[in-house]
Amino acid sequence: MKDLAFSVLRTLADGRFHSGEAMAQQLGCSRTLVWQAVHHLENEFGLTVFSVRGQGYRLPAPFSLLEVAAVRAGLDERAANVFTLALADEIDSSNTQLTTRAAQGAPHGLVLAAERQTAGRGRLGRRWQMRLGAGLTFSLLWRFDRGLSGLAGLSLVVGIAIVRALREFGVPVALKWPNDVLLDGRKLAGILIELSGDALGPAAVVIGIGLNVEAPGEVDQPVANLADAGCKVGRNALLAALLNQLAKVLSQFDRDGFAAFRDEWHQLAAFIGQPVRLSFSHGEPADGVAVGVDDSGALLVDGAAGRRVFHVGEVSLRAAP
Ligand code: BTN
Repeated sequence: MKDLAFSVLRTLADGRFHSGEAMAQQLGCSRTLVWQAVHHLENEFGLTVFSVRGQGYRLPAPFSLLEVAAVRAGLDERAANVFTLALADEIDSSNTQLTTRAAQGAPHGLVLAAERQTAGRGRLGRRWQMRLGAGLTFSLLWRFDRGLSGLAGLSLVVGIAIVRALREFGVPVALKWPNDVLLDGRKLAGILIELSGDALGPAAVVIGIGLNVEAPGEVDQPVANLADAGCKVGRNALLAALLNQLAKVLSQFDRDGFAAFRDEWHQLAAFIGQPVRLSFSHGEPADGVAVGVDDSGALLVDGAAGRRVFHVGEVSLRAAP
């Protein structure tokens, strides 16, 4: 049913009325199936569909779906050369899928964007959920030659790419160590990086990004979205802008490592010079003043017992209570 539901959604995406009969004819199925697909859109995907006797079905407003051609049209030369785009209507998780494909030899630069994830994953074992059409969820595969140990700081660099892209659209975002993007102090986007490979040899890295374009639906923390900030950029143009910046920063990171980005990260970061609390999956939280990051992207915190260094991993940071 989900495939038919997406086909019906593509027809209804123009925001106009379409009769059940016309859609049934166009899609080669019965009117009952079209009706069931409309229910799927409402009950499973959380969309509102108006149904008016004699006129058919329509969405409250036009709905923008991701399209490879529209994303490609916004890519600059570097990004167009490095990225291969794939779109999925519904998958479990773009990170999970790309990790599997990476192990099967998928090429460097493969991007997988999903309209809907049924098992989207966040950091620290959390879930990542998003209403259909309310955001961007995509992952990309990048193959590095610098070995796993040289990849500390990568998530900070990905954050820089997201901030640069959003600032092109006038959105004043900031970064929270290690890899959240904040708007007005609330989370706008998250990054999930999953690595496989050798300590010294080639590494395959799956970089997953989830970004709220509109209110994402029910989630377990206060979040921000672009629409509330008055930013009306379409999802295809936004994905292209993100990929343009990612192509740039990932190539430079590959060449020069995190040290080349350290100053810029400090300029974009929230909480620097402020009291923070770091929480771990095990053990007591640590309090102190966030001083900045070192050349590997580790966070430096001055506390009662002197300066401590925290590496990106099972740590989360917030303002001190
Ligand atoms: C976090 O802030 O905890 C990270 C969230 C990352 C979510 C993205 S959505 C696309 C990709 N696929 C996933 O399952 N997760 C990442």
